[in-house]
Amino acid sequence: MKTIFSGIQPSGVITLGNYIGAMKQFVELQDDYNCYFCIVDQHAITVPQDRLALRKNIRSLAAFYLAVGIDPNKSTLFIQSEVPAHAQAGWILQCIAYIGELERMTQFKDKSAGKEAVSAGLLTYPPLMAADILLYSTDIVPVGEDQKQHIELTRDLAERFNKRYGEIFTIPEARIPKIGARIMSLTDPTKKMSKSDPNQKSYITLLDDAKTIEKKVKSAVTDSEGIIRYDKENKPGVSNLLTIYSILANEPIEQLEERYAGKGYGEFKADVAQVIIDALTPIQQKYYELMESSELDDILDEGAEKANRVASKMLNKMENAIGLGRKRR
Ligand code: AQP
Repeated sequence: MKTIFSGIQPSGVITLGNYIGAMKQFVELQDDYNCYFCIVDQHAITVPQDRLALRKNIRSLAAFYLAVGIDPNKSTLFIQSEVPAHAQAGWILQCIAYIGELERMTQFKDKSAGKEAVSAGLLTYPPLMAADILLYSTDIVPVGEDQKQHIELTRDLAERFNKRYGEIFTIPEARIPKIGARIMSLTDPTKKMSKSDPNQKSYITLLDDAKTIEKKVKSAVTDSEGIIRYDKENKPGVSNLLTIYSILANEPIEQLEERYAGKGYGEFKADVAQVIIDALTPIQQKYYELMESSELDDILDEGAEKANRVASKMLNKMENAIGLGRKRR
């Protein structure tokens, strides 16, 4: 069985973009792959986080993973900071990475733009992400499009390490969904929907209630053409709503274009909102049940134990290959 690794930051609410671009794929893959899903809390602190909010978001993200359908009997679910090998291997990979290539990362440029003080961790985030992936001999990393560049860097670091120190790492590949890899902001459909966007109307969270979803979709930016057709360049807003509808209702976009021919944006938006509500209602029910139960901690304990076993073996191999410490007896 091939291995899959993917992570999500507990850096705030979970958006429909995170769900469609990443989590939905995870559920579809877990029957056929050896899967590791991680709550990457160490990545989240590359930007300031409130202590209590972070703790809450970690637990909440664990519940979301399970509520969307991750089955702990099939997949390993764990918290990054509970597996110290990630930070240790991350340090080694920082020493393999070049500052120039880290400075070229689009996410670093976006997140540091206009900021007076930027943490060094924001720059060295990609080698830590590479460690997350490489520690598990990952073959495939299912992610949204925004993470493609980081996976390419992970491949470069793995190849560089293998060349210097011997064939230790499997070279992973990104798996990016054909549609839905980049769900756009509802208020500016030329920008990615993002959980750290200060404008709450720009995203739908997995916990938004029906009224909020209706309101947000109703006020989503479209255009004045009045025709429901897919055209990402000229009609990014309508195309984004068509993409969301198509994925959540499992209906091809062409079929939706036919159905809404001659109909107005008002009716279309009301239906998009309903499709989102129908998809999120069962997830929300499961989420609230899990947040109340102790099941969550048992699953995370087991996940950390398994991840620690696998990751520490790989860390050992890395340290031996480099000559760190003493040879283990
Ligand atoms: N808008 C999106 N469309 C499709 N996929 C998306 N992802 C994020 N936004 C979209 C995918 O979700 C996974 C988890 O992302 P992350 O938590 O590691 O951080 P991110 O990519 O930086 O996501 P956000 O929501 O934009 O978080 P913040 O605002 O904290 O930076 C990844 O697989 C990502 O591709």
